[in-house]
Amino acid sequence: MAPLVPPHVASLQPYIPGKPIEEVEREYGVSDVAKLASNENALGPSPLALRAAQDACRSVHLYPDGSAWALKAALSGHFGIPPGEILVSNGSNELIELLVRTFVLEGEEVLTSAQSFVAYKLAAHAHGRTLVEAPLKDRFHYDLDAIHARLSPRTKVIFLANPDNPTGTWFLEHELVHFLGAVPRDTLVVLDEAYIEFVDVPGFQDSLELRKRFPNLVVLRTFSKIYGLAGLRLGYAFARPELVAYLDRVRAPFNVNLVAQAAGAAALDDEEHVVLSRELVHAERPFLEKGLRELGATVVPSQANFLLADFPGQPGMKLFDALLREAVVVRPVVGYGFPTAQRITVGTRRENEKVLAALRKVLGR
Ligand SMILES: Cc1ncc(COP(=O)(O)O)c(C=O)c1O
Repeated sequence: MAPLVPPHVASLQPYIPGKPIEEVEREYGVSDVAKLASNENALGPSPLALRAAQDACRSVHLYPDGSAWALKAALSGHFGIPPGEILVSNGSNELIELLVRTFVLEGEEVLTSAQSFVAYKLAAHAHGRTLVEAPLKDRFHYDLDAIHARLSPRTKVIFLANPDNPTGTWFLEHELVHFLGAVPRDTLVVLDEAYIEFVDVPGFQDSLELRKRFPNLVVLRTFSKIYGLAGLRLGYAFARPELVAYLDRVRAPFNVNLVAQAAGAAALDDEEHVVLSRELVHAERPFLEKGLRELGATVVPSQANFLLADFPGQPGMKLFDALLREAVVVRPVVGYGFPTAQRITVGTRRENEKVLAALRKVLGR
């Protein structure tokens, strides 16, 4: 009998999302759960986006605009990029899939860093493509030289997350420019900037400018983090028109729903929410970092809205489970090759105090 699925599907590992609040309440009999597992926005959605979403709900008997004209026009106006260089998607995760499906031919390779965002690996494997990974340097940092050393004539797409998930670390523009200069023009370099709005380090990339010099650069962004719209699933990409046109043909016809399109356009106008969200992370990240260090953790410096904290001698799944019993959800990163670390989203002061108190209790400090 012929196998039900091809071998590359049979061997796929499922994506493990952060535990939903309702599941934790049900399974552990707790309430007032602090969910710091998925790098969502601690302030909630943009109020302007919320209002636009509520209004749009009245029209959900209609199909969305398949071309997302208004949303693309809003993105175009906001970033000064022609609509023909913009693609919108059902979360930026969909873009990662689409890029592999559209551009990586049989026998070609996807290249990225080991221990980086797992969606790159999942997308490559789901399409039966070879994934090549370069090790991190100094435990937590992208090594662009090591990635470059693994380039081959088969390399078609390179994924770089900057800042990185789950480490929160970053590389600087001059390092990226050096790397881009050494990559063949027919290899696509996908710069995943899911957390860029939180970055405040000097010398960080201006990817919109770099696109002008490097036409093989594709930039991925999301409304899931600073705009607080993770539940609506909305991402976008900037790429040269030829690439956008191919991706457009491969994507599902109505990949971005009507509510998300309306909310996204409104969120771009909500500068106040963006500023408050950034300020919260910049104020609370040092507080959480200090508290974690006082508990004996090694905390990796981060430019994102989360921290990777390593608790030597504390197996990741065990600590994760103990925290769930205290109504705190963090993200164990055992599967990423960090057996004793947790990734913790920067929350409100109350949430950060709650996770620190829970850790103090379960670690007996
Ligand atoms: C680096 C990175 N890229 C992409 C995504 C996907 O975001 P979304 O699909 O919600 O737009 C995430 C989500 O956590 C991420 O951390």
